[in-house]
Amino acid sequence: MSNPSQIEKMSLKDDQVNEEEEDIVNPWEVSTHSAKGVDYDKLIRKFGSTRIDHALIKRIENLTGRPVHHLLRRGIFFSQRDLEMILNVYEQKKPFYLYTGRGPSSEAMHMGHLIPFIFTKWLQDTFDVPLVIQLTDDEKFLWKDLTLEQTNHLAFENAKDIIACGFDVEKTFIFSDLDFLTNSPAFYRTICRIQKLVTYNQVKGIFGFTDSDSIGKISFPAVQAAPSFSCMFPEIFNGRSDIPCLIPCAIDQDPYFRMTRDVAPRMGCLKPALVHSTFFPALQGAQSKMSASDPNSSIFVTDTDQEIKDKINKYAFSGGGATVEEHKTKGGNCEVDVSYQYLTFFMEDDQRLEEIRMAYTSGELMTGSLKKELIDILQKMVGEHRQRREAVTDEIVRQFMKPRKLKYDYPAL
Ligand code: TYM
Repeated sequence: MSNPSQIEKMSLKDDQVNEEEEDIVNPWEVSTHSAKGVDYDKLIRKFGSTRIDHALIKRIENLTGRPVHHLLRRGIFFSQRDLEMILNVYEQKKPFYLYTGRGPSSEAMHMGHLIPFIFTKWLQDTFDVPLVIQLTDDEKFLWKDLTLEQTNHLAFENAKDIIACGFDVEKTFIFSDLDFLTNSPAFYRTICRIQKLVTYNQVKGIFGFTDSDSIGKISFPAVQAAPSFSCMFPEIFNGRSDIPCLIPCAIDQDPYFRMTRDVAPRMGCLKPALVHSTFFPALQGAQSKMSASDPNSSIFVTDTDQEIKDKINKYAFSGGGATVEEHKTKGGNCEVDVSYQYLTFFMEDDQRLEEIRMAYTSGELMTGSLKKELIDILQKMVGEHRQRREAVTDEIVRQFMKPRKLKYDYPAL
C-alpha cells in the first residue's frame, strides 16, 4: 500500500509539487518538473540578474528609433546584467561589441541553438557593432566522446549555419578555440590572467565540478570567459582593454559569466553585460529534454519540409482538449501547448499571434489548425536557412575566421 505522504504528493497539483522540486539550469542540464517550463522569476532571484522591464524596452526603442525584436518584446529575452550600461555607452556614441558562441557537439543545430544567433544578428544590425563568435571545440572535446579532429570539423560546419543567419563578414569574427589559441598570444595571456584569479573551490561552487573531473574541464571556464575582454582581440580593438562587451545567450550560460564578472575588476577590466533568453522547449514539452541524438525531440535546421510536418503533427505536445467536444467546450491551454510556444518564438506578427491565442484558448481553433500555422512558418524558415547555408562555401567560412580588423566606425578607436 502506498504511504499517505506519497498519496498526498501525488494528489497535489503540478505547480504545488514544483515548489518542492527545484528547476535545474546550468550549461550541461536544463530540467524542470513543470509542464509550463522553468520558473524564470525564481531563476532570476537565484542568479541575481534583473528582469528586462517595459521601461528598458522603451529606452532601447527611443535610442535606436525602431521597434525592438519580437524575441525581446515577448519576454523571450527576459533577463539582463548591466544592459543599461551598454545603452549609456551607445547613447554617448562610444563603442561596444557583441560576444556569443556555440559548443560544436553535433553537425545539426536545432532551432533552440539558433535563437541567440537570430537575436544577435538583430543586435548587430540595430547597434552597428562588431561581433565575435567563439566555437568551443576544446570544450566539446573535453566533455564529449569526440576527438579533437571531430570537434574541430564540427566547429567549421556549425560556422556555416551561424553565417547563414546573415552576419556581416566585415563586422564579424568567428573563431574555433583550437585554431585561434595556436596563433593568438593575447588569447592565452587573457586566459592565464583569469585562471590565476579563480580558485578550484570557486569553480566547484559555480559549476559543480567533482574530484574526478579532468583538469581540462576545471580550467575551461577561463577560455569561455576570455572573449568578454576586449584586450583578447588586439587586431580588432587596437590593443584597447576598455571596450565594453554585451553577451546574448540563453540563461544556461550565465554561470560562466558570473565567474567572468567576478574576476573582471580584479583584472582591471570591465564586467561584461548580458542579455539572457528563456529556453526553446523540446517537442514533447518543457519537461522533456531536447537532444541532438534524438531527432524527434526538436526541429533541426537540416530537417526537410516533410520531416517538419511529420514531427510537429506526431510529437508536438498539445494543450488541446482530449476530444473535439472537450476542446470546443473547455478550450486549449497555450501555456503548455508546444506548437503555440514555438509560434511565440517564430511568428513575427503580434496581431496574428494574439488572434491564434484567443481562438485556441476559446476552443474555436483546433490543434490541427494551430499545428498547420506552425508547420508553414517552420518550413519557410528552415527552407530559407537551408538555401543560405548552401551558399556558404568553405572559403566564406575562412574569411569569417581570419583574424583581422573589423569595420568599425568609431573615431575613438
Ligand atoms: P551551446 O552550443 O550549448 O548553445 C549555443 C547557444 O544556444 C543557446 N541554447 C538555447 N537557446 C534557447 N533554447 C534552447 N533550447 C537552447 N539550447 C542552447 C545557448 O545558451 C547558447 O547561447 N559553451 C557554449 C558555447 C559558448 C557561448 C559563449 C555561448 C562559448 N562562448 C558565449 C554563449 C555566449 C555552448 O556550449 O553553447
